[in-house]
Amino acid sequence: MKPIGLFDSGVGGLTVARALAERLPHRRLIYFGDTAHLPYGDKSPEAIQSYSRGIVDFLLSHDVEAIVVACNTATAVAIESLRAYIDPSVPLFNVIDPVVTEVARLHPQAVGVIGTRGTIASEIYPRRIAAAGVSTRVSTLATPLLVPIIEEGLAHSPILRTTLHHYLSQPELQNIEYLIPGCTHYPLLTEEIQAFYGPSVQLLDAPALVAQSVAEALEPNGNANLPATTDHRFFVSDYTPTFQHIARQFFGSEVALELVSL
Ligand code: DGL
Repeated sequence: MKPIGLFDSGVGGLTVARALAERLPHRRLIYFGDTAHLPYGDKSPEAIQSYSRGIVDFLLSHDVEAIVVACNTATAVAIESLRAYIDPSVPLFNVIDPVVTEVARLHPQAVGVIGTRGTIASEIYPRRIAAAGVSTRVSTLATPLLVPIIEEGLAHSPILRTTLHHYLSQPELQNIEYLIPGCTHYPLLTEEIQAFYGPSVQLLDAPALVAQSVAEALEPNGNANLPATTDHRFFVSDYTPTFQHIARQFFGSEVALELVSL
């Protein structure tokens, strides 16, 4: 069985990779973290489109069956150009559509979305949720300091809590029923976000929703009896200790990062 390729600017997409490994334990994963170009959130759409094309070529050279754009920013600004770029026979998944489908299913009165500047400026969540035909009010807030703090390895520190509290206290994020973590890094802050809101606001489990949609599309009949594998590969465009640390936390001590420049 061919592996599944995923990419993000850094560690964030590992939240999706982990959910996918839980959902399809027999599948090998090829992960690319574009740490040399992180953060994507402040880059131009043209730059992200160009990085994404290079990464897609790299993943395809590893004979992946499908590609998951495990980054909201790349989805927001590059998914259409990637769709036009890659062979249409290669399934291309993103991290936004499954969340929009879930919002449409839940049909709440109000949701909040946090994300990078690029994702929020693209207005992709309000547009897609409106296009899904639900009347949910969608309020959004760019939270650009969170990714650098996470990539510094400070996800559970006082500086993170202070920054997160500042953002979550903004008027945009009051009176909501659900919060969408519109950046794949943010599920790493689940505990802190839930501690801030308590039970009044639910954080959507974006990685699980994405993994479920990938699994249903690629293996609709399930393959529960195939043996599990840990034979994943993790590539980065620049070595960072945080990446190594989080990858090991999620995938075990044998994870070895492979450095590649595209
Ligand atoms: N994890 C990425 C996302 O989902 C982007 C983080 C960044 O590089 O700014 O948007």
